[in-house]
Amino acid sequence: MAVLSFSSLHAQQGNAARGERNFRACAACHSLERDRNMTGPSLADLWGRRAGTLPSFDRFSDALKSSGLTWDDRTLDQWLTDPKHLVPGNEMTFEGIKEDPARADLLAFLKEATKPSAAPSQSAQQGQRGGMGGMMGGMMGGADPNLKALEPGIHVKTISYCRDTYRVTTADGKTRAFWERNLRFRTDTSKDGPGKDAPALLGAGMMGDRAAVIFSAPEEIMKFVERRC
Ligand code: HEC
Repeated sequence: MAVLSFSSLHAQQGNAARGERNFRACAACHSLERDRNMTGPSLADLWGRRAGTLPSFDRFSDALKSSGLTWDDRTLDQWLTDPKHLVPGNEMTFEGIKEDPARADLLAFLKEATKPSAAPSQSAQQGQRGGMGGMMGGMMGGADPNLKALEPGIHVKTISYCRDTYRVTTADGKTRAFWERNLRFRTDTSKDGPGKDAPALLGAGMMGDRAAVIFSAPEEIMKFVERRC
């Protein structure tokens, strides 16, 4: 218990101005505007919210939804120290902030900026449009493998679309959910492209949150994408 109260003391002593700069590590995936969801859920009104329950965000992992956590100084401090340790199996691709002062600053900033009355500040907004997103999007580069013979894990069977989410089911029975702006649809009609009606899911294993589906022809795209909730 001594450790826990030490953490919340830190949260109170953090420097919000410095914390705002640290928020840039989060801004590629999170906004502070209510219900403006990106790769991750909006963080508006975070304190006192139960983890994984924001109604406008459709992509929470089962791990986070069933964590039983309520976000406060203490749980957020633990989450940001080591998300995987606090909620094994969660889908936030972020390794954590190990330095206590940096975390305390960030929490001090977030506590103010996520209050219902808070207007998102100019520089936090800029962070959201900053270079991070592009940097993370860069993982798709490099030579694509030949897609004629697909492994079950990347062989796409169905794609459904609901609100802002695509759900891609592959031949191994797995279904992955993507924010619509994180999933690209591409075609490859060359000899290395996928077979007819056998599109391939690429990139999903690397960052987890962005990927592309490669089709053998553009007509296949609308044939595969089915509006269904
Ligand atoms: C690469 C994208 C990404 C980055 C960077 C990122 N997050 Fe997340 N975050 C997510 C995703 C995705 C989830 C949902 C995880 C799940 O459902 O398992 C999430 C969940 C959360 C939640 C839980 C929200 C809720 O409603 O339960 C909090 C709090 C959070 N992130 C804070 C942060 C903070 C603070 C940072 C920066 C230090 C950060 N995240 C960095 C993608 C990201």
